[in-house]
Amino acid sequence: MVSPNPSLFFTLLLLSVAVASSSSSQPNATNIGQGYRLISVEEAPDGGLIGLLQVNKKTKIYGPDIPLLRFYAKHETDNRLRVQITDATKPRWEVPYNLLPREQPPPLTQSIGRKSIKNPITVSEYSGSELLLSYTSNPFTFAVKRKSNGETLFDTNSLFSSLVFKDQYLEISTKLPKDASLYGLGENTQPHGIKLYPSDPYTLYTTDISAINLNADLYGSHPVYMDLRNNGDSASAHAVLLLNSNGMDVFYKGTSLTYKVIGGVFDFYFFSGPSPLNVVDQYTSFIGRPAPMPYWAFGFHQCRWGYHNLSVVEDVVENYKKAQIPLDVIWNDDDHMDGHKDFTLNPVNYPRPKLLNFLDRIHKIGMKYIVIIDPGIAVNSSYGVYQRGLANDVFIKYEGEPFLAQVWPGAVNFPDFLNPKTVSWWGDEVRRFHELVPVDGLWIDMNEASNFCSGKCKIPKGKICPSGTGPGWICCLDCKNITKTRWDDPPYKINASGTQVPIGYKTIATSAVHYNGVLEYDAHSLYGFSQSIATHKALQGLQGKRPFILSRSTYVGSGKYAAHWTGDNQGTWENLRYSISTMLNFGIFGVPMVGSDICGFYPQPTEELCNRWIEVGAFYPFSRDHANYYSPRQELYQWESVAQSARNALGIRYKLLPYLYTLSYEAHVSGAPIARPLFFSFPTYTECYGLSTQFLLGSSLMISPVLEQGKIQVKALFPPGSWYSLLDWTSTISSKNGVYVTLDAPLHVVNVHLYQNAILPMQRGGMISKEARTTPFTLIVAFPAGATQGEAKGNLYLDEDEQPEMQLGNGYSTYVDFQATVKQGAVKVWSEVQEGKFALDKGFTIEAISVLGLDGSGVISEVEIDGKPLMSVTNATVSTSQHVHLDGENNGESKIIMVGLTGLNIPVGRNFAMTWKMG
Ligand code: NOJ
Repeated sequence: MVSPNPSLFFTLLLLSVAVASSSSSQPNATNIGQGYRLISVEEAPDGGLIGLLQVNKKTKIYGPDIPLLRFYAKHETDNRLRVQITDATKPRWEVPYNLLPREQPPPLTQSIGRKSIKNPITVSEYSGSELLLSYTSNPFTFAVKRKSNGETLFDTNSLFSSLVFKDQYLEISTKLPKDASLYGLGENTQPHGIKLYPSDPYTLYTTDISAINLNADLYGSHPVYMDLRNNGDSASAHAVLLLNSNGMDVFYKGTSLTYKVIGGVFDFYFFSGPSPLNVVDQYTSFIGRPAPMPYWAFGFHQCRWGYHNLSVVEDVVENYKKAQIPLDVIWNDDDHMDGHKDFTLNPVNYPRPKLLNFLDRIHKIGMKYIVIIDPGIAVNSSYGVYQRGLANDVFIKYEGEPFLAQVWPGAVNFPDFLNPKTVSWWGDEVRRFHELVPVDGLWIDMNEASNFCSGKCKIPKGKICPSGTGPGWICCLDCKNITKTRWDDPPYKINASGTQVPIGYKTIATSAVHYNGVLEYDAHSLYGFSQSIATHKALQGLQGKRPFILSRSTYVGSGKYAAHWTGDNQGTWENLRYSISTMLNFGIFGVPMVGSDICGFYPQPTEELCNRWIEVGAFYPFSRDHANYYSPRQELYQWESVAQSARNALGIRYKLLPYLYTLSYEAHVSGAPIARPLFFSFPTYTECYGLSTQFLLGSSLMISPVLEQGKIQVKALFPPGSWYSLLDWTSTISSKNGVYVTLDAPLHVVNVHLYQNAILPMQRGGMISKEARTTPFTLIVAFPAGATQGEAKGNLYLDEDEQPEMQLGNGYSTYVDFQATVKQGAVKVWSEVQEGKFALDKGFTIEAISVLGLDGSGVISEVEIDGKPLMSVTNATVSTSQHVHLDGENNGESKIIMVGLTGLNIPVGRNFAMTWKMG
């Protein structure tokens, strides 16, 4: 959104030489480039600022400098500033505006820079929102400040690096205060946890190397970071996005950050925050709000590569039922396919009539079915999908022919999702497949894109490719390396795959060509994103329902279309820990529906690890058990102990489904992550800035799992305030300044705590979300423990979850605000229904209200609902619970009162008010 009046306060302030001299005399330690100087600047026709930069001295390293650059800045909203630097004379590659819709800068042909800069030593400002841009003219540097607290967020006036802009090498650095905590820059498995760590470069380039590779470029590319700073009593967060799809290394050194990018433009977007929630709101309002998810997507999912036939799948569903472990969705990897070919069915192992019969049965009880689709289309003259693809000319080309690669079915061509014809063809193939098999969602895998070969390949003569029975990933095509172009062998080598392999290694050759002559070199990291958009369009057009798509490769904006899982992890304790950081990062990336393969993809987990993994995975937004073809079976019922932990942890999840679904609504309307680092709720509490072993669901529910072998206790951080254990609500931990507490955590127990001031809507749970969501509600009201005065708030969103839109005002949604206060013994709990029709139509009711943290003797009286005495106060239970307060000198235990009112029958869709007095 553009602010209605950009209220551009555009001034050129010629400041004293004394102020600016520091910048003019700045030493320049890089010999790659000598920087640029601003030669002219003026107000752009769209209210922005536009100027010309001339190179100071040309160098040859990594290619010649682009002599004349255009610098463009615009306050696009009150909290978003864009700064773009590109070649002033000809257009360069940018993330396509149709994939990521956004404002276009003025065309390059627009006359610019008539106001030439006379005085070379200037510091100028461009203001208009919460952010303020200042720049120096020679050398040209720029800085972004937050107006309200004067904080400098980004400053390229650096001692060791200048602006470098060559065709295939762009470099820019910012200074950072040493106490800034940074998050993001993925996808990357970060062994040090969620907070960025000064180490190897963060390399961004979508790559199919398994998630076990640490500090290496993985499946997604998200060149964005959030920067959180503590200023004593307050904290402020902002984000910086470099919207560029080319490969890049980002060097974070603690007090500086340097981008080294191999193409495209510098297109920075600054989001002013100041709270972490403000940041994700501003970020997702720009890149696209997270996709609405159907309710069932929050149920538990079971998948595996190697369900060799339909009976095995039927058996799995049956065994979940027998073990009384909830299950909503059953998945097929490529086992259902005929010869690993997309959109086909294996007639022997997955005969269509039997599959349809199975789907009919599971659909009747509300279960769902999802299958995998890979982008590689088998080159096979008798395969309709391929034939139609060829006829429509949908594939990526190399030297005029479809680029030949190898994935599971053998030789494949890759559809070019940047081509509108491909998008239509893909939509048609999805539609045909859906007529064959009414799947409920699609899983798009291998879309980095993954290729088992490198270079230019031919189908070998007289050789079967692939040979062997199981899935093979050894290249069996006849291939030659391609090194002849500067796209295949660029002058600067990013740290691809963590080892500087050539950027075309095991993917599409970077000199291959997309629609309109776009080079794979530029568009590489957009492949999975463009496939997600095409698949979303296909499903939306066809089902008339909210699509569910799971994509392995993601880019800025993917969350608008797809969920994500963190790829091929290992069944190890480290990988269990890493899963938390990656999940939390994806929340920041605007992809809140995320999870990891529960129990690990390979190799097989130990029984103990699988117990602990389901206790974490039950709280991933996307909760799915998945394993490799070669791993032994690891469904949760395979071990009785794991089944027990699953019943406990998923039992809690299924009771929390209304809360999770409400969080997914919040994610959809404001970008708020479902799973969040603790600092989202406690931004001034620095102790939690690096915490990666615990996380929050929403603002108030904290998960503190066991992540180490052999441990039956967990040391957990409790930020200041009162926390109630969800296990039985009877133990409470409070502290003034925050405290670490060692909690008991026997094998089947995961610690979950609810924070004060919250109202949590829960239901009775069940074996499948369709049933669980019809059960009566209980509201858990949490006041600060023992306080004579306090308040609590919560909310609830419900809807007809398969409707494409997730929004109020359609007649099929319900939104309720819950509130509660306690004041000198008078308790009031009430609701304000914004929209109630859906809940009323469905007959949803509240059967119980439990209020935690009350003070008093334990006698309650004058219970009223909507001003009338509640007849059966016999249904009120009053119990005392244990309250451990750890306030330094006043450490101790006391009793607090919990009041439970049961047997209620309050319609969710109608306002109510309940009051009583505590004696
Ligand atoms: C790679 C994916 O990451 C994995 O989850 C899947 O099982 C295999 N491809 C086979 O399709």
